Amino acid sequence: MFDYQKTSQYFAQVAGSLEEDAAAELGELGATQVEAVHRGVRFSAPADVVYRVAYASRLVGKVLAPLRSFRARDPEELYERARDLRWDLLIDNRDTFSVFGNVAGELFTHSQYASLKVKDAIVDSIRDRTGARPDVDRENADVRVGLHVIEDRATLYLEATGGSLHRRGYRRAAGEAPMKETLAAAIIRFTGWTGFAPVEQAEAAPARVPLYDPVCGSGTLLAEALMHAARIPTAYLRKKHGFERFPDFNASAWKDVKRDLDSRIREVPPDLIAGSDVSQEAVESARLNLRALPGGERVSVRVADFRRLTGFESGVLVANPPYGIRLGDPEEVRELYRELGDFLKQRCKGSSAFIYVGDRDLLRAIGLRPSAKKALVTGNLDGRCCRFDIFRGRWGERAGTDAP
Ligand SMILES: C[S@@+](CC[C@H](N)C(=O)[O-])C[C@H]1O[C@@H](n2cnc3c(N)ncnc32)[C@H](O)[C@@H]1O
Repeated sequence: MFDYQKTSQYFAQVAGSLEEDAAAELGELGATQVEAVHRGVRFSAPADVVYRVAYASRLVGKVLAPLRSFRARDPEELYERARDLRWDLLIDNRDTFSVFGNVAGELFTHSQYASLKVKDAIVDSIRDRTGARPDVDRENADVRVGLHVIEDRATLYLEATGGSLHRRGYRRAAGEAPMKETLAAAIIRFTGWTGFAPVEQAEAAPARVPLYDPVCGSGTLLAEALMHAARIPTAYLRKKHGFERFPDFNASAWKDVKRDLDSRIREVPPDLIAGSDVSQEAVESARLNLRALPGGERVSVRVADFRRLTGFESGVLVANPPYGIRLGDPEEVRELYRELGDFLKQRCKGSSAFIYVGDRDLLRAIGLRPSAKKALVTGNLDGRCCRFDIFRGRWGERAGTDAP
């Protein structure tokens, strides 16, 4: 028996600063004993909830099922202990596999070398038992094995997701500085937007609340907004899922999960989600990406400079404006943020704007006081998503609307 079969405990890899949100999301999907840790979430779940998480989580990268943990003080010990596992129960003769390693501490310093040792152990173990030799495929393996080493503690995993879930399958064109899908999903979650006004505020039928991205680039925020409002599962476009290759895979439980989540997909009205960008190329990328999703043709994207938009009132605005490093001249960038602030104040009355900024100095240039902030670190950017509530009254009349 492998560890996850004995304990029903799993590990979800999560980008730094998303751990708490991912823990909440896993709870919503049915996981129990959820614990946010550095760059991940530990959780317990029966098989059907694992399938649910690996099919529908928006914030998680990979879901890992622990196979075994052991002590390994050097590459030889790692090889020997890894070789003890019954890999022939996990990897069929015709399967391809790959090993993805992470090492931390002083004993192991090269994750690729540690991964290579585990790969050799897997091949030798299967060859000894079956006489066959499975092939390695780094890009599109049938079975993906994870290795984590911290000091002298090694853990081997099976990937339930089959590659990171941020690869939704809609990104056909990347554009300039595309946002990571999980980060965009975290911003959409932070907005609290669902496409409809909360029932208690709506009279009779729930009112639609439109969402707009005036600097949409390749459309990541729009695509995540569409997936969220239309309830499209994150891995909907995937042809295969890691858990389908688990030795105890329960096909009928998976069928039920898929049927249930797919049946909840709903159509979004044509005017609900829209965006624009000054670059024709970016707009074409956004259209291409959105059309990969069901209902993507209902999201309208056009070429426009936000400084010339007539306005966007009583909705939710999301934006990931360009940042200095890419634009060059810092004064020019600050001016663009000042103009974005003016656009919000003058032409977005009654809207809430959620602006993701990788540089805190630029936030000040917007000239509005945020009503809420969320730290969202990504790569080497110490980013923030700020909420600005634009009141209807004359500018400056209401508390919280004056410049910081
Ligand atoms: C950081 S990128 C947005 C990336 C996007 N979130 C994505 O995932 O692809 C910033 C975008 O702002 C656009 N932009 C810059 N100045 C603009 C303006 N004045 N009006 C509209 N779009 C503008 C750029 O063309 C670029 O696509």
